[in-house]
Amino acid sequence: METSRRALALFLTMSLACLVLSIDPHLHGKNTFPIETRFLEQNYLDQMRQMQGFKASFLQRDSLISSPSPAPAPAPYVSAPAPLVTPRPNVYNVTSYGADPTGKTDSTDAILSAISDALQGPSNGFLITGIVNLGGAQISLEGGNYLISRPLQLLAGRGNLVIHGGTLKASDTFPGDRYLIELSATNKNGAFNHEFVTLRDLLLDSSFRGGGIQVVNSLRTSIDNCYITHFTTYGILVQDGHETYIRNCYLGQRITAGGDPKERDFSGTGIGLMGNDNAVTDVVIFSAATGIMISGQANTISGVHCYNKATGFGGTGIYLKLPGLTQIRIVHSYFDFTGIVAEDPVQLDVVNCFFLGDAFVLLKSIKGLVKGVNIVDNMFAGSGKGIDIVQLDQKNGPFKQIHHVVVDRNNVEGMNLKATVARRAVQGSGTSWTVDFNPILLFPDFVNYVQYTLSTSGRAFPNHALRNVSNNNVLIESDVPVQATVFVLVDQGQTHTS
Ligand SMILES: *[C@@H]1O[C@H](CO)[C@@H](O)[C@H](O)[C@H]1NC(C)=O
Ligand SMILES: *[C@@H]1O[C@H](CO)[C@@H](O)[C@H](O)[C@H]1NC(C)=O
Repeated sequence: METSRRALALFLTMSLACLVLSIDPHLHGKNTFPIETRFLEQNYLDQMRQMQGFKASFLQRDSLISSPSPAPAPAPYVSAPAPLVTPRPNVYNVTSYGADPTGKTDSTDAILSAISDALQGPSNGFLITGIVNLGGAQISLEGGNYLISRPLQLLAGRGNLVIHGGTLKASDTFPGDRYLIELSATNKNGAFNHEFVTLRDLLLDSSFRGGGIQVVNSLRTSIDNCYITHFTTYGILVQDGHETYIRNCYLGQRITAGGDPKERDFSGTGIGLMGNDNAVTDVVIFSAATGIMISGQANTISGVHCYNKATGFGGTGIYLKLPGLTQIRIVHSYFDFTGIVAEDPVQLDVVNCFFLGDAFVLLKSIKGLVKGVNIVDNMFAGSGKGIDIVQLDQKNGPFKQIHHVVVDRNNVEGMNLKATVARRAVQGSGTSWTVDFNPILLFPDFVNYVQYTLSTSGRAFPNHALRNVSNNNVLIESDVPVQATVFVLVDQGQTHTS
């Protein structure tokens, strides 16, 4: 419920933003309209004029909008004092604060004071309610390697800020339950903690003490081109908030390129998504017990390569812990000896992925519900041990509610094809033909749609009928003996509408 309120507020804010932004560019473009659209153009310009009027009134009211709200933004940083010297770019070099780029001495205090200055530097008004716009201020690590013994926790209520370009390494006294960079300080009055913070071109080494990055209740956070290693908890943990985009990153507990003799001991989780509307794109997770653990809806996973810990050693590529409401799309990803586990999935897409090394998708029953699942157009390759490409874990009880599950059009080498749609033909002479679909159908004893054709080249036109469907076997009978081929299609994905 809270999520939908937030989404509504977000939508309203976005709509106003679009309205304001869309005025000027279109006026400049008016000469490019073809003649036939003159009338429309005039109309359009009138509308634009009206909107400009509206914009003016909106902007005048800007201060009114932000001040009486129940969540006033912190006042001291609204307007920076007029600069006494020539304005300088807002780049905060950590070495200017005494940080040691050789990584020999502890730089925690120096980096924290650079961050503190950046977060209290000149502002350009506000982003979303409660977030001061720092105008793109940059904290530069200047290509250095810094030892830190406490988390770099950012002051809440700040946005439009970049931390980039260097290495942070946890010292051997770093607290094991914290993260090197934390966007976790609580903002006032339930406002988001941060908006549009970019963390890029960073190597984060947790030294087997805690995690890399924690993002809590923040909006539009960008984590780009980061290499995160030696974590014991999460490489990146996202909790609540919206739209953390993690792209082009490499995460691994141990630095390895596969086939590591210690693979059995890998622990921790590459990425934890405990919130909605995030995306992980073009990311490699090269060692961890779990690659990505997801417990928030509407997250998108695309172009991810998991070779974090083989299923055979107890690892999982992506674990979907959202029984009853999943709403996750996993596309164009690569599961390398480690697969996907989904608890009671409801609305899940696994499309255009590559599963290598006997990796498979496991649907795990919690209350026995599976609905709106598409596992289609994937490639599976294995070692010829007869491993099923999609499997059921029914230890907590069987799947009882099965609706619109489509496992089809997957191509398989060296593994056992499973599907919810199957076609077979049987030949024989006599009055009955039985087709056993158990080797291929995913769900046991569950066929709710059958179609068949009886083909015979003899002179007779026998009467024939579908007589029995039970235990995934289909029985066709004819009234007289005949030499025939019977073609049968069954589908477990159909739901009866009557
Ligand atoms: C930060 O470092 C860069 C590169 O060394 C330099 O060009 C810039 O002037 C420095 N900025 C400040 C504010 O010290
Ligand atoms: C269908 O086949 C099953 C298994 O052989 C049998 O137990 C069941 O009684 C049959 N049903 C009908 C309606 O003949």
